[in-house]
Amino acid sequence: MEAMGLSSPAVDRTWRSTQRARESSASDRVLAVKIGGSLFSDKSVAGSLDKGRIARFARVISSLHERFPGQVVLITGGGAIGHGALRGIDPADPFAAIGLTKALADVRWAWTQALVGLGVRAFPLQLGAMATLDDDLSFRVRADIVERVLASGALPILSGDSVLDANGNLHGLSSDRVPEFLVRALQTPLRVASFTDVPGIVLGGPGGKETLRYVDPMTPQAAYEALWTNSEWDTTGGFKTKVDALIRCAAEGAECFILEGVAQDSEWAYLLSPYSGWSNKLHCTRIARSPAAAVSTAE
Ligand SMILES: Nc1ncnc2c1ncn2[C@@H]1O[C@H](COP(=O)(O)OP(=O)(O)OP(=O)(O)O)[C@@H](O)[C@H]1O
Ligand SMILES: [Mg+2]
Repeated sequence: MEAMGLSSPAVDRTWRSTQRARESSASDRVLAVKIGGSLFSDKSVAGSLDKGRIARFARVISSLHERFPGQVVLITGGGAIGHGALRGIDPADPFAAIGLTKALADVRWAWTQALVGLGVRAFPLQLGAMATLDDDLSFRVRADIVERVLASGALPILSGDSVLDANGNLHGLSSDRVPEFLVRALQTPLRVASFTDVPGIVLGGPGGKETLRYVDPMTPQAAYEALWTNSEWDTTGGFKTKVDALIRCAAEGAECFILEGVAQDSEWAYLLSPYSGWSNKLHCTRIARSPAAAVSTAE
């Protein structure tokens, strides 16, 4: 298998030339777009998966990938299928999360079909085959796979997964944690756009009109104080898991955003442009080490 794939001279040449292009590119960064399950599934309904919504988001992602080949990674949430695979599992069984491997492979496959149907070389990748968990539950990664898939011109599709720790126990991980894997696996600066059903961290409780605009990962108290209770259908820690993960990523140098996803959005190219140029009408939460508008050292 290996001889046919990654070690072939043709692939290595492509990889090296893309690496060279990246080194000389001023706007070099990888964008991970996470589409929360809330945007294509109703987690209170078993098996819910809205393929029409997936198709609409796939069109937007396809344009983004066409415009920025080698710079876009898709992360899909698990929705009802993902949450369902973890509901009621036996906490005493160290391998009980295994069902999540299949559940999320199915969700990645739904996105793959939608994107391949649009002519995108979308390639689903299994997180548990590229990472294990250390004792502190942080990721220990096999670093080069995502880079090489990007360099090949394909669009990697990742999701949560069941991931092994050093003692052979399986942990069912939320897709919200995938950016933590990417920030360690990629050599290039990482921006994360996490789309969900709210325009960032909302202040003042459900229905609040104001969004917390900036979170410093070293002093995130305001973000945590704003959180409210999870939906009873959630099995992966809800919004707190998302906030925790993005704070950890930002502490490691990524620039992260929580934004509201609307399936009919037609243009996401701004996601790869400097934050200083984004419309201030766009409500979102930015989580990054630097409060300055333009943070990328590459610009
Ligand atoms: N301060 C807050 N600001 C915004 N949303 C919050 C806040 N506290 C809790 N939430 C809840 O978090 C929800 C979004 O997170 P959630 O985990 O449900 O979405 P997702 O990850 O996109 O999808 P899913 O978990 O269904 O796959 C919101 O709908 C809201 O109810
Ligand atoms: Mg969630």
